[in-house]
Amino acid sequence: MSHSSLQQPLTSHKGKPLSGTIRVPGDKSISHRSLMFGALALGTTRISGLLESEDVIGTANAMNAVGANCQRLDDGSWRVDGVGLGSLLEPQAPIDFGNAGTGVRLCMGIFASHPISVMMTGDSSLSGRPMGRVLNPLRQMGTAVIAREGDRLPAAIRGNNAPAAITYRVPMPSAQVKSAVLLAGLNTPGTTTVIEPVATRDHTEKMLQGFGAELSVEINEAGERVISLQGQPKLKAQDVIVPGDPSSAAFPIVAALITPGSDVTVENVLLNEHRTGLLTTLIEMGGDITITNRRESGGEEIGDIRVRTSNLKGIIVPAERAPSMIDEYPILAVAAAFAEGETKMLGLEELRVKESDRLAAVARGLEANNVPCVEGEDTLSVTGQAPQLGGGRVVTHLDHRIAMSFLVLGLAAEKPVEIDDGAPIATSFPSFTKLMEQLGGKIN
Ligand code: S3P
Repeated sequence: MSHSSLQQPLTSHKGKPLSGTIRVPGDKSISHRSLMFGALALGTTRISGLLESEDVIGTANAMNAVGANCQRLDDGSWRVDGVGLGSLLEPQAPIDFGNAGTGVRLCMGIFASHPISVMMTGDSSLSGRPMGRVLNPLRQMGTAVIAREGDRLPAAIRGNNAPAAITYRVPMPSAQVKSAVLLAGLNTPGTTTVIEPVATRDHTEKMLQGFGAELSVEINEAGERVISLQGQPKLKAQDVIVPGDPSSAAFPIVAALITPGSDVTVENVLLNEHRTGLLTTLIEMGGDITITNRRESGGEEIGDIRVRTSNLKGIIVPAERAPSMIDEYPILAVAAAFAEGETKMLGLEELRVKESDRLAAVARGLEANNVPCVEGEDTLSVTGQAPQLGGGRVVTHLDHRIAMSFLVLGLAAEKPVEIDDGAPIATSFPSFTKLMEQLGGKIN
């Protein structure tokens, strides 16, 4: 599932104001989960609005490799004929998850409590990312693991046919770790409990409930989320409507804020409270952002977001906000480059283990484009409105969000911005360049 090994440099240029109304593709987190849960359910799940990106297609292939049938229909929707919880088949070849951390980590959880052996690989970015955070709780449940030094991919797991239910306190704020343990708990007798000291995106909890699992969420005396799942439920096929991805909407939103004279609306965007930290931050910075047509769709709040160019001010972004905007710091740093004064972002330690070391990649990209910044161990300070912005070449390290963020910088900077490789954009937002051009941006 790895994208082309040939690098595809791209350059963005300052041009016209951005204007128009667009929709971004479906939410990546919900898309992965709808395929996985459809595969574990009995019956046929229908998905509309699925994100058809490399990461998500990798998950469809993984589910097909263990016996499900995920298929695109002529009308653009997807059907998933479930194989059923407990009935996964052993894949006949290693599964390549490409660039997808969510794909591989959640699948590790699913495979761990099925009596199958699975070998998992990924691209060089994914093979450098820590898997121990997921493999360690799975080992506690009785799964056998062989992994490369430091618990990196390639890794093989032999699922357990008599897994043990555990209570697990997630040591870092990670929805992927929480989800992997809960998904392993699905085919485990008894109650699997995950304690989450810091709340992260709750799509796994909500969607498992929607597919018929008995799952409760309580807040304990210490203010932690305690998620309890009863094992071996009968999951039933569902109709899933995937809303627009706020992490993709972030790029046209910031582009419109910083490109003079712009007025852009992004329709149908997921507004789950665990995903809206960037909107809160941009509004605090003085962004002219209005949300209209708030409505419910498939158990989630969605809305249309209108953005007009604004004079942004630097602020302090508190560490507590990080889980609700964890994928949005690269594009926030670009907004900060156009804000008056300093923007200081705190609590960024998880950025070090994303598709790249995002904290370092952002800092190097800013420096290459004359944006003053200071990279701390888990902080980033950006001073905005420096003269002569742009003109740099950015190394993207196989990281789609670094690629898109710096292309957005180039749409508003004085000088063009070049990225070394636009190919990874296809992992999450294949229509990015087309949509930005539709709004009036110049990328080639
Ligand atoms: C995701 C969780 C986050 C996020 C990723 C998607 C998910 O990762 O960065 O893009 O769908 O659960 P972590 O759990 O590692 O923070």
